[in-house]
Amino acid sequence: MRFTSIAGLVFPLALAEKLVIPAVEEAVSLQLAEFSEYYADADVANKTFDSSGTLSSHDARSIEERQSSSYWYETIAHQGISAFNDDPTTYKVYRNVKDYGAKGDGKTDDTIAIQSAIGNGGRCAPGTCASTSTTNAVVYFPAGTYLVSSSIVSYYATILVGNPNSLPILKATATFNGFGVIDGAQYQPGGALPWGATNIFWRQIKNFVIDTTAIPAANAATGIHWPTSQATSLQNIVFRLASDAGTQHQGLFIEDGSGGFMNDLIFYGGKYGAVFGNQQFTVRNLTFYDAVTAISQIWNWGWTFQGISVNNCTVGLDMATRDEDNKEVVGSAIFFDSSFTDTEIAFNISRNANSLPRTGGSLAIENVSLNNVGTAVQYGPTQAALVAGTTASSTITSWISGQVYHPNGPKKVATTQTPFTRPASLLSNGKYYQRSKPSYADLPSSSFSSVRAGGAKGDGKTDDTAALQKVITAAAVSGKLVYFDAGTYIITSTLFIPAKSKIVGEGYPVIMSSGSVFNNVSSPKPVVQVGNSGESGVVEWSDMMVSTKGAQAGAILIQWNLASPSGSPSGMWDVHTRIGGTKGSGLTYAECPAAPSSTIINNNCRSGNTAMHITTSASNLYLENVWLWTADHDVDDPQLRQITVYTGRGLLVESKVGNIWLVGTSVEHHVRYQYRFLNTQNIYAGQIQTETPYYQPNPSARSPFPLITSTDPNFDVSCPRATAASNCAEAWGLAVQASKNVLIYGAGLYSFFSNYSTSCSDAGASTLCQQGMVLYDAANTTNFRIYGLNTVGTYGMIYRDTVRLATYDYNINVYPSSIIMFDNAV
Ligand SMILES: *[C@@H]1O[C@H](CO)[C@@H](O)[C@H](O)[C@H]1NC(C)=O
Ligand SMILES: *[C@@H]1O[C@H](CO)[C@@H](O)[C@H](O)[C@H]1NC(C)=O
Ligand SMILES: *[C@@H]1O[C@H](CO)[C@@H](O)[C@H](O)[C@H]1NC(C)=O
Ligand SMILES: *[C@@H]1O[C@H](CO)[C@@H](O)[C@H](O)[C@H]1NC(C)=O
Ligand SMILES: *[C@@H]1O[C@H](CO)[C@@H](O)[C@H](O)[C@H]1NC(C)=O
Ligand SMILES: *[C@@H]1O[C@H](CO)[C@@H](O)[C@H](O)[C@H]1NC(C)=O
Ligand SMILES: *[C@@H]1O[C@H](CO)[C@@H](O)[C@H](O)[C@H]1NC(C)=O
Ligand SMILES: *[C@@H]1O[C@H](CO)[C@@H](O)[C@H](O)[C@H]1NC(C)=O
Repeated sequence: MRFTSIAGLVFPLALAEKLVIPAVEEAVSLQLAEFSEYYADADVANKTFDSSGTLSSHDARSIEERQSSSYWYETIAHQGISAFNDDPTTYKVYRNVKDYGAKGDGKTDDTIAIQSAIGNGGRCAPGTCASTSTTNAVVYFPAGTYLVSSSIVSYYATILVGNPNSLPILKATATFNGFGVIDGAQYQPGGALPWGATNIFWRQIKNFVIDTTAIPAANAATGIHWPTSQATSLQNIVFRLASDAGTQHQGLFIEDGSGGFMNDLIFYGGKYGAVFGNQQFTVRNLTFYDAVTAISQIWNWGWTFQGISVNNCTVGLDMATRDEDNKEVVGSAIFFDSSFTDTEIAFNISRNANSLPRTGGSLAIENVSLNNVGTAVQYGPTQAALVAGTTASSTITSWISGQVYHPNGPKKVATTQTPFTRPASLLSNGKYYQRSKPSYADLPSSSFSSVRAGGAKGDGKTDDTAALQKVITAAAVSGKLVYFDAGTYIITSTLFIPAKSKIVGEGYPVIMSSGSVFNNVSSPKPVVQVGNSGESGVVEWSDMMVSTKGAQAGAILIQWNLASPSGSPSGMWDVHTRIGGTKGSGLTYAECPAAPSSTIINNNCRSGNTAMHITTSASNLYLENVWLWTADHDVDDPQLRQITVYTGRGLLVESKVGNIWLVGTSVEHHVRYQYRFLNTQNIYAGQIQTETPYYQPNPSARSPFPLITSTDPNFDVSCPRATAASNCAEAWGLAVQASKNVLIYGAGLYSFFSNYSTSCSDAGASTLCQQGMVLYDAANTTNFRIYGLNTVGTYGMIYRDTVRLATYDYNINVYPSSIIMFDNAV
């Protein structure tokens, strides 16, 4: 999370209002009034509407045909629970909208029924709670066309999932009223978002068609409103928007938050396919057709765009956004392995040599193909072409605007740089390999082996070690998939995942370590161990969490040893670690309150030795949307008060063979480092995001975990600050040693606090929060390169051994400091 007080500073609401947010308060109050009327008049649930929108070929099957497509998740027994809910015996995690009266027949207004499926059972509705870990829900939509007349308002920690074999269509009626067919964070009367946007975690929307074409093109309409943060995703969604001249429709609207990841989205039509404003995000595999502007970037610190396809639009990425003082409000963007076809202007930017802030509006383009494009890069204020277009086809191999650094410091800025040298083993057809989270859509429910059916309880009390191990071991032998019903599964010794395992969770079930086995700081043990050293094969794992209960100073939450064949990587999608900050963890505000004025270390709050370790024997592993988080606040506390929980290390990669893809990952609040690449090679990472623990330097990163000399980086950089001795010892965001081909496409590495005070990261602060953020050894690190490095609260952005290469004040951006490219080849 990022503290919320500053959100107003970075989110230019005035700007967004200029876009197509309808008068928000008005829309919200109207909507609330209508809802109460609806509830008073129960018969409205059966009210029918004329469906004036025409069905496109995608949706052409009859509703009967569509409804007969089955999906294993619909038919499997639903026995997931929320272990720490106030009433776990009656609280339902799984909800099928049809059980709540939704018809999906294309005629009935299903708004109220869908809303009651979401709202049932004391959940965290907008405006009713700050956040929660105990009322998570999965709301399932069978195939069908669901007419909606006002926003489907999503609640905190809600997964909306449709049948991937026949995407359910959410069809807005002609008179639809609301901000978003799905409103992921409904504005409250008074104009505030319902939750701090940087605290919106653990939610997904996947497998839908969102259709606003029945709404007149001249009326504002939004597909999904999605201010959001870590451990969230949108996947496999088709947006159908009006494309008539003058259309005011937009597919996706994000105005705030600290994301995040989304992939596999297709947009048809609209004034804007997507409007994006958020600190940082990784977006992959988005396709736009027939929009006026495919992507409107209203503000950011740094975004990573991978695999974007723009077709028949006026503008592809419009990031030419300035504020009333004529300053850039977009920090930076990295755009690669993408294409523009039949489009007038691929990139519209407003950065030039005189831009303020100095590095504002930075852009890196790598390997982008153009086919019948009017202007490749346009300087918006004068409409001048910075890079000409082409009526035929061509490729931009490299184009850069921003600060470029080499190992001896800043380099004279040139727009053309040598693109990153890509090892072939990371590529597929010349692009970085990509692989979306599997849905196993073609399998019947009989292919899945439920852990609760196999005897595990998941109640947050029972020791489930033996029951889980039995199900997992048997499934790898029989070829079944392991289905983790929602729940919290306590384990007291290592859980072993063998090669051939495929594991899928419902609503982020939690594996929670407990007991003395995991609490010896000198003898760390894996909680979940994937494969043995020397073993090879493939594992797929999605939608889960690994956590700890109480003091667990020796817990390695995930240890990955498995070697996978090249060309057939293992994968981990939406699998997160979460340490502390939730009911039942024994590491909440009650046990581990933030205590800046004390210097006493509470060893009962020392939990997690290392969040994830990819060991020397592991290879060929694809991670997508993974958040390794030690909590900075208590998620179930109504005031979200801060907590001090110590976890030794974040992500350690020591794979000798390498071939590791880190797509949309973040690692936060670990003591000694967040990302550590040691004796490894062939790493693709974009975007990476980190935060330093808020308590440091009280204590410093030298405690409370003793140095592991073989793998921990040290803190021997020189310190210019008078009192800096302890401040030098603050968690490294990224520490690279003896590694080759480490290619980073976007890095947001932040240090907001010093001993719980943010004055060190305020704009213009003279005393920074920490000394250094990125460290690499010059002697034996080769082809280490970064696009879009953004740091906050840090004096030296990159250190080559003890030499500071880039200093924050020379590279000021919209809030962070930013360099668009670092290349360690001299
Ligand atoms: C809606 O229609 C169904 C039959 O399709 C009926 O069972 C139900 O009672 C009706 N609901 C209301 C509120 O009238
Ligand atoms: C991109 O998304 C589409 C669905 O929108 C999917 O069919 C395709 O496989 C995805 N491609 C990649 C490379 O992930
Ligand atoms: C291009 O997009 C416009 C809408 O902006 C649409 O009217 C037109 O049919 C599209 N052209 C093609 C060839 O699809
Ligand atoms: C590009 O950016 C400028 C602002 O710099 C803006 O005026 C213009 O409308 C944008 N779009 C196009 C198509 O030029
Ligand atoms: C870039 O993308 C194209 C496909 O669009 C591919 O053929 C090419 O090899 C890629 N890689 C590089 C490094 O140019
Ligand atoms: C902790 O581990 C160390 C190193 O293996 C061992 O010497 C020590 O006895 C262990 N402590 C306990 C309490 O088991
Ligand atoms: C941390 O800040 C508190 C005030 O919030 C202060 O009392 C304390 O002395 C500080 N501790 C250190 C080690 O800087
Ligand atoms: C890397 O280089 C340093 C010299 O700066 C050397 O001491 C070290 O042993 C080398 N090897 C590794 C694996 O770090």
